[in-house]
Amino acid sequence: MELAVFSTDPRGQAHDLLAIPVLQDDPAASVARALEGAPYAGAALAAVKSGDFLGKAKDLAIVYPSGDGAPRRLALVGLGKREKIDLEGVRRAVGTVVRRARAIRSSDVSFLATPEIAHAGTAYGLARAALDAALLAAYEYETYKTKEKDDADRPPAEVRRFRLHAPGLDPRAVAEAARVAAALVPAMRTARDLGNLPPNDCPPRVFADRARAVAAEVGLACDILGPERMESLGMGAFLGVACGSDEPPRLIVLDHRPPGTTVSTPPLAVIGKGITFDTGGISIKPADKMEEMKFDKCGGCATVGILEAAARLGLPQRIVGFIAASENMPSGKAQRPGDIRRAMNGTTIEIINTDAEGRLVLADTLAYAVRDYKPAAIVDMATLTGACVVALGKCAAGLFANDEALSREVVSLADATGERVWPLPTWADYEELIKSPVADIKNSGGREGGAISAALFLKRFVDTTPWVHLDIAGVAWTTEERPYHAKGATGFGVRLVTEWLRGRAGLAVA
Ligand code: BES
Ligand code: MN
Ligand code: ZN
Repeated sequence: MELAVFSTDPRGQAHDLLAIPVLQDDPAASVARALEGAPYAGAALAAVKSGDFLGKAKDLAIVYPSGDGAPRRLALVGLGKREKIDLEGVRRAVGTVVRRARAIRSSDVSFLATPEIAHAGTAYGLARAALDAALLAAYEYETYKTKEKDDADRPPAEVRRFRLHAPGLDPRAVAEAARVAAALVPAMRTARDLGNLPPNDCPPRVFADRARAVAAEVGLACDILGPERMESLGMGAFLGVACGSDEPPRLIVLDHRPPGTTVSTPPLAVIGKGITFDTGGISIKPADKMEEMKFDKCGGCATVGILEAAARLGLPQRIVGFIAASENMPSGKAQRPGDIRRAMNGTTIEIINTDAEGRLVLADTLAYAVRDYKPAAIVDMATLTGACVVALGKCAAGLFANDEALSREVVSLADATGERVWPLPTWADYEELIKSPVADIKNSGGREGGAISAALFLKRFVDTTPWVHLDIAGVAWTTEERPYHAKGATGFGVRLVTEWLRGRAGLAVA
């Protein structure tokens, strides 16, 4: 998808579909202001006067104006009440337009950022909100869909171009937003295509091949560890998860080393859980919704997308991504509840529940990153616990940290990027939950505070490195259409963490 920004008024150009945001307070005045002097304003005003279009959030009306210079389609999209408009409202409005444009086969969408939305954020933040929503909403996972016959003579359902007209906004800030969003188009596609890939077509080997192809395309160094190297590193926790599967595990390392950095520059580390399918193992999951466990690789998929974005943006610091890819299967070779495993940092772990596998693969991945890469900070993303979904639902990821300043950095970007996170505690009291009578720790702390005990488990493997853990179990995919998300993987984390990396590079952020 191509994104373009203009500081000009859209009326001077031809449009396949021109969208105007409209306030609920006085929709007629809103339309009149946006289209002032345009000969086709009447068609839009008629939609308002008829009472068919009220300007409520996500309301949408499409009118077909005629006359010289009129756009082929004019879309009115509701913003709701003026005092309630925020960046999320802007994203939802743009997303609603773009999703509808797909459905009606308009391939070219223009959006006018009217002064009425200007108070929702900074110029950069506003432009990013509109562009992000467009690129997110344009996506649909169709790789395995056979084209329907009666569709053959219609144009494809694909929005190929999105033009943002922002006459009142600082053009330099808007241009920077467009540069970032343009890097996110392919990076978000990478993250979501990988996430949506069915588990039969995405064993760890294939996940690694895909990551390697992305690395080659954008110029990342790539190192892929198989079971032999993992064995010699002493990654007993990771290998315990993998041994039930016929598919060998992979620890994928993507290294962004821009000019001026070397292999000994302390990087920022991004780490993702990449369980290509989570059956639960011997502690097998119930059949209901088990198919959703192909999304258990989404933290790893986001990590690939983030490293891709970092390379495409030419971020100035060294950034290393680690993806812990394994399948979690029951079999005669699978690990059992009661087994004791030794992780790379020497910690012994009693396996209570083989379905608590994410923390096991992450334990060795974190320990490896810390020992061999000495990162300045770590952000990990994992679809780690159902308990996090119980706590926060599907609107926010759980955030855990061992460093207050780092935690605040990430939290401060959540609203602006629309990838919401909410802090949960890591008080030492909860450590009781993962004490084992026979080993250093156990891999399940039970139901109560389940997201917290999982985070405290991970904390044992980061040493003193500043670290943030995002439990993305509730937000990594959606089973229903959202204003700017189709069903399936959301790519959660790519926008938030890329923005965090930009901030660390001293670039103005959302
Ligand atoms: N991948 C799951 C967590 C999950 C479940 C994410 C449902 C999204 C939706 C994880 O590996 C898991 O199974 N966790 C267990 C941990 C428990 C056994 C301590 C859980 O949450 O039940
Ligand atoms: Mn599990
Ligand atoms: Zn899992």
